[in-house]
Order: sequence, then structure tokens, then C-alpha cells
Amino acid sequence: MKKVITYGSFDLFHKGHYRLLERAKALGDYLIVGVTTEHYDESRGKLNIIDPLMERIEHVKNTGFADEIIIEDHLGQKVEDIQKYDIDIFTVGSDWRGKFDYLKEYCQVVYLERTKGISSTMKRSKKYELIRLGIMGSGRIAKRFVMESKFVSGLNIEGVYNPHLASAKRFAEENQLAFYTDDLEEFYSKVNAVNISSPHGTHYEYAKMALERGLHVLCEKPMAMKKQLAEELFSLAKEHNCILMEAIKTAYIPGFIRLLSVAQSGVIGEIKDIEACFTRLTDSRLRELTDLKYGGSVTEFGSYTVLPIIKLFGPNYQKLSFDVIRDDNGLDTYAKIYFHYKDKFATSKTGLKVKSDGHLLISGTKGYIMVPAPWWKTKEFEICYEDFTKNEKVYTNFLGDGLRYELRDFVSAINGYGHDKFKLTSKESIAIAAIMEEFLNQRENVSD
Ligand code: CTP
Repeated sequence: MKKVITYGSFDLFHKGHYRLLERAKALGDYLIVGVTTEHYDESRGKLNIIDPLMERIEHVKNTGFADEIIIEDHLGQKVEDIQKYDIDIFTVGSDWRGKFDYLKEYCQVVYLERTKGISSTMKRSKKYELIRLGIMGSGRIAKRFVMESKFVSGLNIEGVYNPHLASAKRFAEENQLAFYTDDLEEFYSKVNAVNISSPHGTHYEYAKMALERGLHVLCEKPMAMKKQLAEELFSLAKEHNCILMEAIKTAYIPGFIRLLSVAQSGVIGEIKDIEACFTRLTDSRLRELTDLKYGGSVTEFGSYTVLPIIKLFGPNYQKLSFDVIRDDNGLDTYAKIYFHYKDKFATSKTGLKVKSDGHLLISGTKGYIMVPAPWWKTKEFEICYEDFTKNEKVYTNFLGDGLRYELRDFVSAINGYGHDKFKLTSKESIAIAAIMEEFLNQRENVSD
């Protein structure tokens, strides 16, 4: 019996897939089809899969060509499968020509001519209108944002707004954007979604204006510095049927999501303490250390450090207290926020003029999880026990600058096929705004 194997995502199943499977089956007597998991696709940079795995399997099954369906979930699996299933022929479409020649050591490799004029990518772009995204602000984050957007399908960065026209122009030219403007109304009228990457003090106002005009909003952290303002933005989004997401990158990163699940699984027992630290020594002339209203280490990095605390312990702390080192202008150059809960506590450490180790440590009654610096770009973590021979390291994928994950979730939320709301809920964003508010209140009280 001649055994054939082929692999694919088979997303938004189409004629090209059908014809590929038909011809693959005809190459032998028994066809095995490997269908990729979302995790595997994500790890190889394919961030746009729409149909859930079970649905994609069902479509392959319905063709009647597959004698057996398996799941492909890791790099290198093809070599294993070919040996395990005693495969005679590996086949795949001609778009992969040459890429799988290394398998010739194990079986025959056949590239089948790809069906012209159809692909999952084409179907995705027909099914969903291209999101026309505009960027507000043209600073450091905005630049990274444009670069990362190239890895996410379904959206195009159209233009940029900056009240300083020359900066907007320079940014548009450098990033080959179709337009630039210093006119807010013109900007909002040319896009259907915005990324707000402007200075902190403008976030709320820009987000509010965008939502009132029916535009989707991905707003840099901190989205708002007051609980009530964050609540207002989320209700505006609801009223206008728009997506509003706070761009705390870490919340959307696969490694961080995995870390939270492991922490919540009970392996380290009941979680009793969380310590999260983010410091970056910063030039005194920069906005972070000069903006008297919205500068300082907590507004700069606090959204990151508070995130795991709110995700794991929730917003119902008994009280917050603070230890702060201030610059002459009153801004916090190093700050600790202590979260007091019943029977447990947590600490957020942020610094602009003090350097510390940027780790996240989650301690429980049976063990702890250590995420080494930079934990906010979670790539690995270690689960540790009293008996250290049981310690386990977990490695996860983190592509590029990490912004592509939040962007991908923004696109899927707008198009209505994502299931990612749990990653950063409106309640959690509101809780983070409440913490910022309390911190800023005590800062004002001190400087009065
Ligand atoms: N395929 C094909 N003809 C097409 C599209 C895909 O023969 N028009 C083949 C691919 O070469 C592969 C299999 O179908 O062997 C599964 O491909 P997959 O990557 O799932 O489909 P694409 O449509 O290429 O997906 P995407 O646009 O997301 O890359």
C-alpha cells in the first residue's frame, strides 16, 4: 500500500485545497492529512487563521479524500510523521517548491501545481473589508507599530496625524504612508480605525473623539489616568459599536497568556505574592521626566507591572500604598506600589532613574514562577519547587517586537471572529486606570 502525506492550514476551505487533496489522494492508496493548530501557525508567523481547528478538520474530512487526519503542532513534526506512519510520498503545493527537499532523505517528495487565482489570503481579504488605520502621534512607538503591522493581514496603515505638520510629513515619508495631516477632523474622516500613540495626556481626548465618530480605537497605555474616564470610553465604544482596546502589548503575547494559565492551574498552589519590575534609565530631557502632569515612572511603565497583578489577583484589593523617590520637579523616578489583599499581596516596581532587575516573580504555597527580564516580552519562564529537581522551564514564541499580537487581536475583534477579549478586558483596563488615578492623586497631594 502506497502511503501519501500532506499538510496545510486549510483555512476558509477553497477549491485550491480541494484540488490539492484530490491529487494527493490519487498519488497513492492511503492519504494522511496534517492540519495545523493555531499555536503552530502562530509560532511560524502565520497570525491570520480564521476558522477554528475543528472546523478546518471538518472541511478536510468532508472532501472524502483523507483516510486519516492528524494534527500538526510543532516544527520538525513532518520528519517524525513520515517515519512513524511509514510514508512513501510527501506532497504539497508548488508554492513550497524546494522548501521540503530535505524530506527526500525519508520518502519521495512531490510538489503539485498550485491552483491559480485562489488562496485563503484572498478569501480573507474578500470576506472582510480592509481596515484603514491611522496613527496618531509619530514617536518611537508609532514607528515600531508601522513595522509590525506588515506582519498582520487585513489592515493598512493609511496616514498619520501630528499637530506638528513637519513631524507628520517626515513620518509619512519615512514609512510610505498615503497621507499626513495636522487637522484632526481630516484625519478622522480618512480612516476607520486609529492607533493612538501620542503623548499620554492626549490619549483620552483622542480616543473619545474617534469613538464618537464611529472609529475603532487601539489606544496606547495608559489609556486613561482616571477610572471614570476609562469607564466613559468603554461605554462610548459600546454605544457606537466600536472596538476599544488598550495597547498593553504584554497582555496579548502568547508567552504571557501561557504564563497566566500555568499560574492559575494550581501547580504552584495558592498564589500569595506577585512582584513585577520594569525600569529603564531615561534621559532627563525626555517627556517621561519633564511632563509634570503625566510623566514619571508609574505612568510610563506601571501599566505593564500592574497587569499581572490585576490579571491574577483582580481589582478588589483592600488598599494601595506607595514608596516613591522623586526628582526635583516632583516626578517619580522610582516607585513601588504595594497592593494589599486579604491574605496576599503584590508589588509593582517602576524606575526611570533607578535600575533594577526586570523580572516577574509569582509565589505560591507550593512553588513559584520566575519570568526573567524582560518579562513583559515573555519568551520563557521557570516553574520552581522546593524539590528543585522538579523545576521546569517553559519556552514560548515571541515574534519581532511583539506588537503584532495586539494588532492581530484588534483586527479579529473588528471583524468579529476573534475570541481574545479575555486577554485584556474592559474591567481590567478600568482597574488599571483606577490605580493610575490613585497614584497621581497622592503625587499631587505631596506636591501641594
Ligand atoms: N494550495 C493549492 N492551491 C491553492 C492554495 C493552496 O494547491 N490555490 C495548497 C498549498 O500549496 C498547500 C495546501 O493547499 O499544499 C494547503 O495550503 P494552505 O497554506 O492551507 O492554503 P493557502 O490558500 O495557500 O493559505 P494562505 O493564503 O493562508 O497561505
